Order: sequence, then C-alpha cells, then structure tokens
Amino acid sequence: MKLEIWTEKYRPKTLKEVVNQKHIVSRLEAWVKKGSIPHMLFAGPAGVGKTTVALCLAYEFFGKEWRTNFQEMNASDERGINIVRGRIKDFARVRPIGADFKIIFLDESDALTPEAQQALRRTIERFSNTCRFILSCNYSSKIIEPIQSRTSVFRFKRMNEENVDEYVKRIAKGEKLNVSKDATKAIYEISEGDLRQAANLLQASSALGKVRKETIYEAAAQSKPEDIKEMMDFALKGKFSDARKKLFDLLITQGLSGEDIIKGIHKEVFNLKIQEDKKIRLVEQIGEFEYRMNQGGSPEIQLEALLAQFMKHGK
Ligand SMILES: Nc1ncnc2c1ncn2[C@@H]1O[C@H](COP(=O)(O)OP(=O)(O)OP(=O)(O)O)[C@@H](O)[C@H]1O
Ligand SMILES: [Mg+2]
Repeated sequence: MKLEIWTEKYRPKTLKEVVNQKHIVSRLEAWVKKGSIPHMLFAGPAGVGKTTVALCLAYEFFGKEWRTNFQEMNASDERGINIVRGRIKDFARVRPIGADFKIIFLDESDALTPEAQQALRRTIERFSNTCRFILSCNYSSKIIEPIQSRTSVFRFKRMNEENVDEYVKRIAKGEKLNVSKDATKAIYEISEGDLRQAANLLQASSALGKVRKETIYEAAAQSKPEDIKEMMDFALKGKFSDARKKLFDLLITQGLSGEDIIKGIHKEVFNLKIQEDKKIRLVEQIGEFEYRMNQGGSPEIQLEALLAQFMKHGK
C-alpha cells in the first residue's frame, strides 16, 4: 500500500478545484487569460489555500514548464533576508522558459522585520523585469505600506462549515470512506476551517477505523464539546458530584490531558446560557487555572477547583 499524505493528494491542481475563494479565483483566471499578472500579496489564516492557489496559478500560467518558472521560498526559515535575496537573485538570473517572467512565492512574509521588508521591497523592484512576486502572510497589517501599495492584495477567507463539508466529501469519495454528518461537524469545529488540519484529522481518524465523531475527537486528542458542556452544566446546576464524575471520565477513561479539557472549557464557555458578565468572570478564572496547571498544579485538583467556581456562578 502506498503511503500518501492526503493534504497533498487532495491539493487542487487547477484553480477551478479550489474550494471557495471565488473572488480570488475569478480575478486570477482573468489574468491568466490576459497573459500577465501583477505582484501579489496573499493574506489569510492557515490552511485556506494561499500556497495552493499560487501553485495552481503557476500551473495554469506556465503549463508544462511551471516547475522551472516557479520557486517557493520561506521568508522565515533561512537565516535572514540576505540568504533569501541571494536565492532570489540566483533564481531570477536564469531566464524564464516559454514565458516573459518567473514567479517567486514567498511564504510567511510577515515574519520579516520592517527593515528586512524594506530590503525585500528593493529586491522586488530590482527583479520586476523578470519576476513576479507573490507574498503570503497571515496578516497584511504586518506588511509595510510600500510593499502593500506595490502589490495586488488578496484576502483569503476562512472556510465555513459548508466549505469544510465539500472538502471532506471530496476526500471521502476518493478514499471510499463513510463519514457521518456529525463526524464532519466535529472536523469543522476542531479545524476551525483550516483544510490542512481537516485532511489530517480525517486521515488520522480513518487509520483508527471507521470515521465517526468519536474517532475524530480521538485523533485530535480533544474532548467532545458535549461532554465538556455537560460537565459545566452539572457544575452550574450545583450537581458537583456529577460534574466531578464527568471530569474523571474525561481524564481517565478518555485519557485527555488537563490542558485539553481546559481548552475545551474555554471554547464552550460562551455557549453557556448564563449572563454575559458571569461568562467574563469565568474566562478570567479559566485563565488563572490554566496558568496554575502550567506551573505544575495537579490537573485533577485545578479542574475540580475550577468546577467549584462554576458552581458559584450558576446559583
Ligand atoms: N481553498 C481550498 N480548496 C481546496 N483545498 C484546500 C484549500 N485550502 C486548503 N486546502 C487544502 O489544505 C492544504 C493546505 O493548504 P495551503 O497549503 O494552500 O494552505 P495555506 O493557506 O498556504 O496555509 P499556510 O498559511 O499554513 O501556509 C492543501 O494541500 C489542500 O489540500
Ligand atoms: Mg502556505
């Protein structure tokens, strides 16, 4: 059996296959048709298609020769912008094949200091005749103004539940998997719309057997929101021993770490049906107890003490 990583196996090959990001895809397709593209800045959260779209664009723009005309670099992994500039220079020196220019995709551009970004700006200008730059970042606000104004800025959207569903179905079809509706929902909740994480969860879970909600959570080593919510509800209603039982079930039977549980509590607290100011007070306390746990406090004791705080707010 061939071992394949699903994030790569199911990475779209063409712009048409990209999930959502329609506002971006249609503009890029128009440029491909025209035969010219500007420098670009791709901004958005992780796993929503920034690298993928750049690869698809290169493929559609250059066709067979795309690999010789496309270079991916990471702004943060090499030791400083000078190395990156060196590599850019080496790449830009060799003429593009069957095209007017090459494309340099620079990932994590927002990891560069403002000074390094100034240097990058000069590099972009210097090689504009032979290269188009696509800079990728999480936050466009961390990119200096002179670069922003020299690039077309594309804002990538976070994937919504429907988008995750579409992507999960695509993989399920390809792998002949049976993925239940609530498993897909769990994938969405855990991944928060990061499709890389969605594919990884699915692959890890399928290795554990059938893809069910439980295996998804197991794969993520995260607690199910319902279990956490049930535990918090018990505590809010003053049923401390039931809350405690639930806590032990999570810690011992399900084998979750205290950290997983407190993260789960934090995620769910805003869904509770209590007054807003109580939620805020609880969030403060969650922070406090998380800190104590990280400082070496026993998870059982700290989590029980936190549940006791919930009891106070419930009544
Ligand atoms: N819009 C999308 N349509 C289809 N698949 C996607 C999309 N976005 C992400 N993916 C899937 O998730 C994987 C990771 O996506 P990609 O590398 O494009 O993320 P990114 O936005 O560049 O994230 P990062 O900021 O972490 O670099 C891809 O291999 C692909 O399988
Ligand atoms: Mg990327």
